[in-house]
Amino acid sequence: MAAKIIDGKVIAAEIRTEVKADVGRLKQAGLTPCLAVVLVGKNPASRSYVGSKVRACEETGITSLKIEIAANAKEQDLLDQIDKLNRDINVHGILVQLPLPHHMDEERVTERIDPAKDVDGFHPENVGKLSIGLDGLTPCTPSGVPELISRSGLSLSGKHAVIIGRSNIVGKPLMNILMQKGEKANCTVTCCHSGTDHLANYTRQADILIAAIGVPEFVTAGMVKDGATVIDVGINRVDDSEHSRGYRLVGDVAYHDVRDVAGAITPVPGGVGPMTVAMLMKNTVKATRMISGV
Ligand code: GUN
Repeated sequence: MAAKIIDGKVIAAEIRTEVKADVGRLKQAGLTPCLAVVLVGKNPASRSYVGSKVRACEETGITSLKIEIAANAKEQDLLDQIDKLNRDINVHGILVQLPLPHHMDEERVTERIDPAKDVDGFHPENVGKLSIGLDGLTPCTPSGVPELISRSGLSLSGKHAVIIGRSNIVGKPLMNILMQKGEKANCTVTCCHSGTDHLANYTRQADILIAAIGVPEFVTAGMVKDGATVIDVGINRVDDSEHSRGYRLVGDVAYHDVRDVAGAITPVPGGVGPMTVAMLMKNTVKATRMISGV
């Protein structure tokens, strides 16, 4: 039987609608959530991501501040800008789009953001809170994964989730999210990575398989158990002269191959991607509520 296609565009739109209603309630209480997005340089992919974040703010009623800093600016200029946003009582969320130019230290920049406004959930304080199950701000892309699964009518509790990839942005936080107690988690989690021997032995045991490695079409049908839920976090540009822009987007999963084996699967694009922005909107509202005590 063909796999169920998990439509991230539809689920993300559903979440944005919920966020919009929540923003409406906050506005009635005299509070307008505000997200500051900082873009350093002119990386085309980063510009495009920042554009979709600003558009999502417009759609949900969140105020957005887009701050552009030249690629050759000093790291101190960026830190000063963050300090200013940390002090601004009208700003509830701060996001510095990554990657940064090589002369800037991403760790130092991330740690400068007030953890209460850290809507990316990358600050060590939020990373620590997530790992011990305390309420904080959680990274957007991994937070979208259980939403995609549960809102598709599939359960997570008690399932074996196998993650491929141990990045700080996806793999590690996702491990912590999926192993927490709770309806949309409570999984048994295995995290595989580039150092894993006999990878397919693990992936074939997954009820839920999540690929977050950044290698185009790495996961093939032989690595997937019949009926498994397959979540593809990868977004890779592959040269393709048949496309007008010269490339096409593919995930970390060989989609056409794996969908014949999987029970459910996310496409690329249109799976995990749209969820990141939706979860960012949700985090911005959460930060607004936490900061304001509403
Ligand atoms: N670059 C790629 N993904 C992300 C993300 O989730 N947050 C930020 N700030 N930059 C990114």
